[in-house]
Amino acid sequence: MKKQNESAQAAGFADVLVGLQYGDEGKAKIIDLLADGYDCIARFNGGANAGHTIETSRGRVALKQVPSAVFHDGTRLYVGSGCVVDAAKLVDELAMLAGLGIDVHGRLSLAARAALVQPHHVVIDKVRFGLIGTTKNGIGAAYADRALRMDGDRLVSLRVGDLIEDPEAVLAMVRRNLEATLALHREVDCDVDAELAKLRAAVAVIRPYVEPDALYLTNLVRSGGRVLFEGAQSTALDVAQGTVPFVTSSHTVAAAAFVGGDLSAKYHRKTIGVAKAIMSRVGSGPFVSEYGGERSEVYCDKTVDGQVAHTSAYEAKLDVAAELSSDDAFHVGRGLRILSGEYGTGTKRPRRIGMFDLVQLRRAVLLNGVDELYITKCDLLHHYASTKDNALPLVTGYQDGGQPIDYEPTAEVSHRRVSPVVTRLPAPSHASESAEVGVEIRKWVEVVEQTVECRVAGIGTGPARDAIQLFEQTAES
Ligand code: IMP
Repeated sequence: MKKQNESAQAAGFADVLVGLQYGDEGKAKIIDLLADGYDCIARFNGGANAGHTIETSRGRVALKQVPSAVFHDGTRLYVGSGCVVDAAKLVDELAMLAGLGIDVHGRLSLAARAALVQPHHVVIDKVRFGLIGTTKNGIGAAYADRALRMDGDRLVSLRVGDLIEDPEAVLAMVRRNLEATLALHREVDCDVDAELAKLRAAVAVIRPYVEPDALYLTNLVRSGGRVLFEGAQSTALDVAQGTVPFVTSSHTVAAAAFVGGDLSAKYHRKTIGVAKAIMSRVGSGPFVSEYGGERSEVYCDKTVDGQVAHTSAYEAKLDVAAELSSDDAFHVGRGLRILSGEYGTGTKRPRRIGMFDLVQLRRAVLLNGVDELYITKCDLLHHYASTKDNALPLVTGYQDGGQPIDYEPTAEVSHRRVSPVVTRLPAPSHASESAEVGVEIRKWVEVVEQTVECRVAGIGTGPARDAIQLFEQTAES
């Protein structure tokens, strides 16, 4: 018994950080804030579909597969077996980081059991998943093939470790998979040899990072290591809990961290949730609090000759004051998007904009077991003073056919029928210029805490790396 207690004391722990809305909540900024308190930041889901943007002294950097703590020297970075790895894109990302003077040798570890995103996955994503509005990185097809394992005598799912241990056999199988897919999609223009060459070149680059031992994190934690799991995508995009089918293809909720991150859940300490004060969503699917509803969804999705129609450059020419003060919710959303710069990091798509939805947030807090909450982009809330209502809207209830409901419907058709019940609070007349947050934002935070039953640990007060107002934990909170 004594021995057990001693080993429990010596062990470290794992915290989990997840997004609570539709992704792009600013998780990377919070990880950047917290990273020094951890020895390792670990990814457990997703792949190059993530677009974690960090403001650094060297400018804005967009990470895709490398964990967000890359700018914290000495912090280890782990990519768990629950991720899908695009080796060629990873090579590009490592080169980008090297160009910034960041060397991840000895810090980055890739789980050998993580599935590879193969070129045929990207082809399938491009030709078959259009209606979902995916990021076109082959993520869904890679996860689907991981579950499928084989198609006849073809191994459709291959892993990072396979590529390193037996590159020639893997490259031959990757070629067969690609050719089989292209035979079904003759309209696709794809240079098979070039795709294979990119993957072949990636083998030598990623080899030093591949970690064959599934107990890598376990050993780290057992020797006192502190781990932070970094969620990619977010709760409303979870493959089961989200607005199916308009979701990503992995589990994004906190509990998944321990499966995809290769660690026993007994080391869990706390869960941190991140939400954004002005909500956004990329891609299609229900979004109860969206400004302009379906009109906004169609507008944001529009492409002309395969190019995004309503880019930031297009919208920058609009009269933002007129948009914001419009009677028409579609225009208010567009004004807020322009002012908050909500455009996809990778895809450049305009993000759909919505009111802060406390019904959805409370459910996400409970589903993930969130212990503390960070809310980003609160500095933008003062723009609500320029709307017709001159008020901060909060969605505090849902209605279906005039009847209150306290859940998110499962079926898309029912979900799209839901209308928000909106509570309005006084808007701050200007952005907080100092660390001191104004009375209106304090009141807003208080209402959020009470409604979602979770402590707000900090709020984002500007784009700069350190623009975060932290709130002391009191005895009651
Ligand atoms: P996929 O993950 O590329 O298959 O895309 C599925 C859905 O998830 C699409 O609606 C994407 O726009 C969305 N999605 C995927 N990754 C992210 C992300 O990092 N932020 C926001 N949305 C995402």
